[in-house]
Parts: sequence; structure tokens; C-alpha cells
Amino acid sequence: MNKRLLRILYTSKTYNRLSKADLSKLLQQCRDNNDHINIKGILCYTGHDFIQVIEGPEEATIRLYHKILNDDRHYDCKLINISLSSSYIFNSWSMGYLDISHGDMQLLRQELPEKLSNDNAEIFAYQLRNYLNTTPQQNTAETIFI
Ligand SMILES: Cc1cc2nc3c(=O)[nH]c(=O)nc-3n(C[C@H](O)[C@H](O)[C@H](O)COP(=O)(O)O)c2cc1C
Repeated sequence: MNKRLLRILYTSKTYNRLSKADLSKLLQQCRDNNDHINIKGILCYTGHDFIQVIEGPEEATIRLYHKILNDDRHYDCKLINISLSSSYIFNSWSMGYLDISHGDMQLLRQELPEKLSNDNAEIFAYQLRNYLNTTPQQNTAETIFI
């Protein structure tokens, strides 16, 4: 199996809740950039914490992660898992978005501490993709206006 994609799962925090406009700008930036460099993934936001998966060609993914680490819109980046893969999990998403501050995401929020471990990272990423695929309002750019 030719494992040429790199997948990174990390968490970080924001000082204050990002405004809708700032979040919208961030997502637009992610999607515009990622489209050009074959990066895919998901960004989850609780209103305080980010959870992000980025996946793509090794070099581009490492370069992007380095940029993200130096971004002052968040802090306390914690690398949860880094792995090689032969296929994308978030194939249809240049950057999917899940607002996990909503009530319907309560179960996911409760389970986060357990899911955010190196051992569970891949299963968790698949679960996040399933959330994206089964939550219709998250499928469009409108999701950025939370
Ligand atoms: C939580 C978070 C996630 C981000 N995710 C991405 C991403 O997936 N793709 C991306 O290009 N930039 C992402 N960024 C923005 C980068 O840190 C950086 O600002 C951007 O890539 C710079 O783009 P530029 O070189 O075109 O100016 C993210 C920033 C934050 C705070």
C-alpha cells in the first residue's frame, strides 16, 4: 500500500469566541488555499476550542501545519495524532465545518475527552466525516454563519 498522504489531528484554543465574520473569513481562507494544494479536512469549533484534521500530500500538510501553529488567532495547539495514509477521509471537503457548540452536538462534546487520543484519532476522524455527511445544514457554505 502506497501511503503518501499525511493526516494531522490537533486541538487548540481561542482567547475569545470568534465572531461569525472572523470564522467565515477563516473558513474561506482554508477552503481557498486548500483547494490549490490538495489539502482536505474538517474544522470543529466549540466557541472556545478548535479541533482540526488536515490531510494531504506530506510536504504540503507539514508546511500548512507549521503556518497554522504560528497563527495568532489561536493558541495552545496540541498535536493529538499524525499518521500516514493511502486515502483521504475527507475526500469531498476542502475544509468541512462543524459547529459543536450546538445542543445537537452535546453527545459529541461529552465524548470528546475520550475521542481525543492518539489511539482513537482515525476512528474519530471517520465519525466526524459521518457527522458532516449526515448534517445537511453543514454541507454548504452557509454553515459558516453560525
Ligand atoms: C484553527 C485554524 C485552522 C486553520 N486551517 C487552515 C487550513 O486548513 N488551510 C489554510 O490554508 N489555512 C488555515 N489556517 C490559516 C493559516 O494559519 C494561515 O493564516 C494561512 O494559511 C495563511 O495563508 P496565506 O499564506 O495565503 O496568507 C488556519 C488557521 C487557524 C487559526
